[in-house]
Amino acid sequence: RLTASAADETGRLASEWASVTDDPGAQTLLGARPTGVGKTRYMVGRSRALEEISALVERCAPLDTTVLVTGESGTGKELVAEALHRLSGRRDEPFLVINCATLEPALLESELFGHERGAFTGAVARKLGKLELVGGGTLFLDEVGELPLEAQAKLLRAIDRREFVRLGGRDTLRARARFVAATHRDLDALVREGRFREDLLFRLRVVEIRLPPLRERTEDIEPLVKLFLEELRVRIPTPVKRFSDEALAVLERYRFPGNVRELRNIVERCLIFCRDEVVAPQALPAEVRAAAGAGEEASGGVLTLEESERRQIVRALEAADGNKTKAARMLGIDRTTLYAKLRRYGIGS
Ligand SMILES: Nc1ncnc2c1ncn2[C@@H]1O[C@H](COP(=O)(O)OP(=O)(O)OP(=O)(O)O)[C@@H](O)[C@H]1O
Ligand SMILES: [Mg+2]
Repeated sequence: RLTASAADETGRLASEWASVTDDPGAQTLLGARPTGVGKTRYMVGRSRALEEISALVERCAPLDTTVLVTGESGTGKELVAEALHRLSGRRDEPFLVINCATLEPALLESELFGHERGAFTGAVARKLGKLELVGGGTLFLDEVGELPLEAQAKLLRAIDRREFVRLGGRDTLRARARFVAATHRDLDALVREGRFREDLLFRLRVVEIRLPPLRERTEDIEPLVKLFLEELRVRIPTPVKRFSDEALAVLERYRFPGNVRELRNIVERCLIFCRDEVVAPQALPAEVRAAAGAGEEASGGVLTLEESERRQIVRALEAADGNKTKAARMLGIDRTTLYAKLRRYGIGS
């Protein structure tokens, strides 16, 4: 969602964006992928949701606005962060990623802010942190929900006052980076639990870009399969030329807990194991067939009530363009009931 403050800012700076897009040099820097949505060239898909995301990325990229990217694992959060960088005036400066979940707290702070010699045991020399190394580029804070509270306070200062200090250091340094953060967690819930600072959340979420799970934008599956086929064929010798319509239909019924990353892995497995030019449903991994198609085949096209309810809900949401009040009305239930069902089926995030 675009908050009011961000909307003002984007409105005011729209002319700056025009000059960036008009720059012919920018076109060649957009990445290797030949196809894609809008100017975010390497993001592929044709769902309404992805088109909107692409438009939002284009709009926010040239601004200094901090962006929070949310969505389940494998939905393309890092790709959005990269697009924000490549479509910005900072594209010639570094894009650095810091994964807030993988390092222990002390190491994480040192990785972010750097440290002076002797700052802690083992700090035998000065080390520059990513915030310093990135200069005027983009710093991508991945899994930002895992950031320990102490580091959160320091990050807030870096975003808010543009200041930071190396661990064990005395000099106040200037943070010039643009920040993009991502998480698959519900940060509002973390705030309620006292594990995430509310003031930091406000700072990070000037603009939020929500990536819906792949099962809610099945129109993206076909173009993504094509893209991955082309990309993977380069390094995997395979007779496969395309997926049959039936195989695509099975994929469209699958839930993809691992989202786009999982789809890519499925395509890769098919290229390795399928001996035909056309991938048929039988060549898809067993769990995909079991979860998606086989249920229907085995019971003569009959779905469980639960599954048919789930599909009707997804359909209603699609028909209502994601408007839940409208979708609830179409389904003949009230909004609270719809919300309960969405939670139960894990639709939305
Ligand atoms: N719209 C898209 N077009 C092309 N490739 C995509 C798209 N969305 C995702 N991908 C690809 O899917 C894989 C997963 O994407 P990415 O790493 O950005 O997801 P993520 O949301 O950061 O996942 P995680 O939460 O697990 O870190 C990558 O290989 C990425 O290139
Ligand atoms: Mg990621």
